[in-house]
Amino acid sequence: MEPANLPRHVGIIMDGNGRWAERHGKPRLEGHRAGSESVRDITRAARQLGIEALTLYAFSSQNWSRPPEEVAGLMQLLREYLIDERSEILDNQIRLEAIGDIDKLPTLVTEPLTELRAASAHNRGMTLTLALSYGGRESIARAVRAAVRDAAAGTLKESEVDVERFNRYLPTSSLPPVDLLIRTSGEQRISNFLLWELAYAELIFIDVQWPEFRRNHLYECLETYQARERRFGKTSAQLAADSDSDV
Ligand code: IPE
Ligand code: IPE
Ligand code: MG
Repeated sequence: MEPANLPRHVGIIMDGNGRWAERHGKPRLEGHRAGSESVRDITRAARQLGIEALTLYAFSSQNWSRPPEEVAGLMQLLREYLIDERSEILDNQIRLEAIGDIDKLPTLVTEPLTELRAASAHNRGMTLTLALSYGGRESIARAVRAAVRDAAAGTLKESEVDVERFNRYLPTSSLPPVDLLIRTSGEQRISNFLLWELAYAELIFIDVQWPEFRRNHLYECLETYQARERRFGKTSAQLAADSDSDV
């Protein structure tokens, strides 16, 4: 791996916990529990590599429609994760953030979440963002509401609304754009993750269930990422000329 060409921001759709559990003859919740181990390993590896931002899709706005026992189990696991990882996060200078409709989460999650967000707010090592009760469309709709409010209050003019200005209304505005998106489990869809933020992300779909995804898989994805040519609308020849003029 070339350390100079690492993605600044990696997003992961952590999928396949249920299928992993089924394959091992276990209840779905055991799959989610096993998935927490992957979160630990990948967070540690990303931090060691010096990646600036890691955003993990842990619970979607649509996941509320799952059976109530599964939702309750996931909330309990989230609480355990936040409590168990607290010292590891703080010791490693990680800033913990959360995006999504946080108000919908039960107190047993918001209580350790709010505390850890505050306690880690000044850390500069890596930003770990958990997408909880998160939907990309919901996030954009919320940003539009905030922009409309500002317009009504006279602090935002119609002519000022461009990509850069709109971006400031999104909860990810302080993070670099997503360079790499990984989805585990073999499904090839975005499932309402960071719709706006993924505009120029490289997408990698890997046929490994999340509870089996470990740092070696992450390294593999990073190598694939580094072998891609990111053109941002330009031609290959232009990119070659740009990099020649850099030296
Ligand atoms: C991802 O695993 C975790 C969440 C969505 C909370 P799934 O629970 O979606 O696992 P599969 O897709 O059913 O295998
Ligand atoms: C996406 O996975 C959400 C998370 C990983 C948290 P889902 O399993 O909910 O997505 P679909 O339903 O297969 O599209
Ligand atoms: Mg799934």
